[in-house]
Amino acid sequence: MSADHEIDNLLHEERHFAPTATFSAQAIAKPELYEQAKQDRLGFWATQAKQLHWHKPFTRTLDWSNPPFAKWFDDGQLNVSYNCIDRHVLAGNGERTAIFFEGEPGDTRELSYAELLHEVKKTANALINLGIKPGDRVAIYMPMIPEAVIAMQAVVRIGAVHSVIFGGFSADSLASRIDDAQAKLVITSDGGYRKGKASALKPAVDEALAGDRCPSVKNVLVVRRTNQDVAWVEGRDVEWSQAVGEASDEHEAQGFDAEHPLFILYTSGTTGKPKGILHTTGGYLTQAAYTHKNVFDLHEQTDVYWCTADVGWITGHSYVAYGPLANGASQVIYEGTPETPDWGRWWSIVQKYGVSILYTAPTAIRSFMKLGSQIPNEYDLSSIRVLGSVGEPINPEAWMWYRKHIGGSHAPIVDTWWQTETGAIMVSPLPGITTLKPGSAQVPLPGVSAAILDDDGKELGRGHAGLLVLTEPWPSMLRGIWGDPERFKETYWARFEGKYFAGDGAKWDEEGDLWLLGRVDDVMNVSGHRLSTAEIESALVSHHFVAEAAVVGAKDETTGQAVVAFVILRQNQLENAGNDADVSKILRDHVSKEIGPIARPRTIIVVKELPKTRSGKIMRRLLRDVAEDRPIGDVTTLADTSVMQSISGKLAGGAND
Ligand code: WT7
Repeated sequence: MSADHEIDNLLHEERHFAPTATFSAQAIAKPELYEQAKQDRLGFWATQAKQLHWHKPFTRTLDWSNPPFAKWFDDGQLNVSYNCIDRHVLAGNGERTAIFFEGEPGDTRELSYAELLHEVKKTANALINLGIKPGDRVAIYMPMIPEAVIAMQAVVRIGAVHSVIFGGFSADSLASRIDDAQAKLVITSDGGYRKGKASALKPAVDEALAGDRCPSVKNVLVVRRTNQDVAWVEGRDVEWSQAVGEASDEHEAQGFDAEHPLFILYTSGTTGKPKGILHTTGGYLTQAAYTHKNVFDLHEQTDVYWCTADVGWITGHSYVAYGPLANGASQVIYEGTPETPDWGRWWSIVQKYGVSILYTAPTAIRSFMKLGSQIPNEYDLSSIRVLGSVGEPINPEAWMWYRKHIGGSHAPIVDTWWQTETGAIMVSPLPGITTLKPGSAQVPLPGVSAAILDDDGKELGRGHAGLLVLTEPWPSMLRGIWGDPERFKETYWARFEGKYFAGDGAKWDEEGDLWLLGRVDDVMNVSGHRLSTAEIESALVSHHFVAEAAVVGAKDETTGQAVVAFVILRQNQLENAGNDADVSKILRDHVSKEIGPIARPRTIIVVKELPKTRSGKIMRRLLRDVAEDRPIGDVTTLADTSVMQSISGKLAGGAND
């Protein structure tokens, strides 16, 4: 098969980049970390946890007596916001910049740690005044503005639990997430700036809360960013400027149990219903801080760090809102899109703020690469010293381009593998230690135990591909799926007894480096974002045109994978449907409205039948062959083997898009 052939080519990567002596000499991560963690894994994590401020020190590192429900540092107490902000101010670093904010229109704001503390304390008091108590859930639906981070920090400061919902999700997605978590408060803004325009957010909140859809919500706290007109529900909606403006700036952070819930973040699974991934306090912050410092080689006094992820994703939690602040870093937050006003925007930001550590996704790198190196070459990127990649495998070509044109041919690239569920980076090179290999995430971090298993659970060695598992609990592991302990066990722990099944295929190469080979379940990865085939299929069949739908992730040069949908139309709707091009447009818009623009299919293919096994299961593998324009694989298990001929005939006749 061609895919295997490509993988084999990849695995014979011969370009190696050893760390320079100068880099190694000043590197934060020391090679001893590996040895220390190997000798005493729990002691190692306890040492990392002790880098934090504990209101009450812990004496127990891990309680794994009731797997898969782990408890880390569970007799200790701490406050995440105190660790991220107060302690830096108390240590005399209040003047250090915490956030350099760059708005898309070009407006800027700079917040020192002392100023951030002031804002977070006031916001915490405003939340208390709105009746928010420890354990209450608060939904956050915001653009990338400082208030997004301030809101997250304020929520966790008072022991409440946030659920951030990416601003690109629709009102329906928002409503189902708010309702599942039974949120009492929604924090949002009138809108944010995207692609040169004010793009509204508040109307989606209004729609999500309309009627009695989300009865748990008592208030909506609204930040003014764009000053667009917004509808206002008296008694429910509250102005941020007023509520926060009037609140006291005195707030003493109290300690919460290490296993107190910190946040819920919804992510797509293999069924139509997103999973609310639950993270807790002590273990999460320990690993977010440790990985941020060591993987990015953070020298907090001199580095300017920029992670381009939105706070609506786990990367924006661990590596914008928490890890960097826990480490006292100065970071850039940019509101807008990379092409506004032109494709030089990111590089102008790097130049302007002297960004030294840049963390982004392969899909962005491939977009820049397509446009050519002349764009970044126009800017002074000499401040860059470490580059990071996350979200999907980075192909060696993109890796090489990133190193050469953004990293000045010297910056180490850390390809970081992890998931919403793992909470923090699990597999990655360490700059200054690891000899880098383009395309490989390389090695489990010190303290992390990974293995590759075959279908029967047998551990595979070098040169073999199988399923990636984590064999020991880790501090920032998810503690469950909100409200669904059975699904938690079933999804991650049932396949291999006592081991966490990540859902990714992986291979050890001959030198013992790990290569990620993509998802092995019905989850797609589009631009580094996780989407479920089932969720999009159910959005499609909710349209009255559609009788049946099958969705696959097909290889895409820029986005990694793209959503390709095969649909069967309802006979009685055919005359309304117009031609295939109209149908395609209508259905793509429909999915965008139901789930959000990120889920919009790239291609819709109208077919008469779908390939199914005799037991009625859709054979997505065959549809993927069609979508990726490959010869169709083995069809012998199909109930009706002629189906594939008719589908590929259809495609040859011109797929619509
Ligand atoms: C899935 C997790 C972790 C934050 C962003 C995505 C894929 C992630 C890599 C990488 C190859 C990667 C995996 C994983 N993935 N990082 N460096 N190399 N694949 O978080 O939405 O929870 O998705 O993203 O398939 O399972 P997520």
